[in-house]
Amino acid sequence: MKRIFTLGALLGAVVICSGTMTAITSVQADTSEYTYTIQDARNLQDFLLAKPTTEDLTGKPYDMNNDGRWDVFDLCLMKREVLNNTPDNDDTNNLVVYYSASGTTEKIADYIVEAMNADTFVITPVQPYSDADLDWTDQTSRVVMEHNDENRHTELVSVDVPDWESYDNVFIGYPIWWQEASWVVDDFVKENDFTGKNVIPFCTSMSSPLGDSGTLLAEMAGTGNWLEGMRFTSSSAKETVQSWATGLDLPNQEQKNDILIAYFTPAENSGVDAISSATLTTWNGENMGAAEVLANMIHDHTRSDMFSIRTEVNYPLEYNDLADYAKDEQDNNVLPALTSHIENLDQYSTIIVVFPDWWYTMPQAVYSFFDEYDLAGKTIIPCSTLYLLK
Ligand SMILES: Cc1cc2nc3c(=O)[nH]c(=O)nc-3n(C[C@H](O)[C@H](O)[C@H](O)COP(=O)(O)O)c2cc1C
Repeated sequence: MKRIFTLGALLGAVVICSGTMTAITSVQADTSEYTYTIQDARNLQDFLLAKPTTEDLTGKPYDMNNDGRWDVFDLCLMKREVLNNTPDNDDTNNLVVYYSASGTTEKIADYIVEAMNADTFVITPVQPYSDADLDWTDQTSRVVMEHNDENRHTELVSVDVPDWESYDNVFIGYPIWWQEASWVVDDFVKENDFTGKNVIPFCTSMSSPLGDSGTLLAEMAGTGNWLEGMRFTSSSAKETVQSWATGLDLPNQEQKNDILIAYFTPAENSGVDAISSATLTTWNGENMGAAEVLANMIHDHTRSDMFSIRTEVNYPLEYNDLADYAKDEQDNNVLPALTSHIENLDQYSTIIVVFPDWWYTMPQAVYSFFDEYDLAGKTIIPCSTLYLLK
């Protein structure tokens, strides 16, 4: 999964920019006391490719083999140093996945890799995009044709990340194309299972914001705990990118086996399968009651088991009918019979009970739930979605 530099291109560049090299390398510097970073490797690579560098390289100790010049052999030696200086990341739980057509997203991805000690997976189209392919001003270019084709599809070399299960946090980077995520990442997102992972989108663009590019990818994926992403530009500073990445609050996705999330929602107790109602909301493309959404949100953070409190009675879903029904049930202190039962209660030391607020208290079904079990010694965390009914 380590990136491979293209030596052929670099050797060519050495010849092209050898004049500039002499000027800079006339300053000899001590290489022994210096700790080389990925940024140094990038600086030297950019220099060899005659690309502008973000730092002034004068005096940099890049003459690794002390032969009075900077060339591709120094880059190879530097890479070895960088690898030696990088803490063993065999057990990293961070992965940076990205597609970059012209290098900007790659640069940001490298900053994140360094800051998060992450592994890298580069999304690579089978047929790479040439400069001509990327020319959005040309109505006959590949990107324009693909953009106009609603069935567009970019075939990828691979979507399989080695040891995919081992990653808790997946950063996914892409350039913005026409205000959306480049469609080159689509297959990767569709074909991987992000269950149990935090997914952090990041994009680069000329001027467009992140927009809903991350949300659309989350919907496309259908799994994973997708976090708010971030947009960068070609001039975003390394420190800015790295402090964003390291400052993220990444929920622990390790499964908490001793927690049970028990929830009650009328939507699952209405006797209707395919439901749509004003009292429902959408979660990962599915219609469901607010309490179930809240339960799912908690599940995404704890990975804990979920338990739906089911009743024999069918609740009306229409708002006013449900309000009247719930009021009657409460006034008459009816305890509806439950049809779902926890089999392995002993396993759980904590029970998070999620329910809608009905007439300023719990629905009667939740009272039935508490009546059914001996919860002595367990931690109970009630959690209510307020004012589903006012
Ligand atoms: C086909 C295409 C469409 C683009 N559309 C937008 C856009 O809508 N908004 C924007 O700000 N930049 C747009 N850009 C610019 C890229 O998002 C920007 O240069 C990005 O940083 C390139 O990343 P990369 O070098 O990793 O490919 C577009 C570029 C291309 C090639």
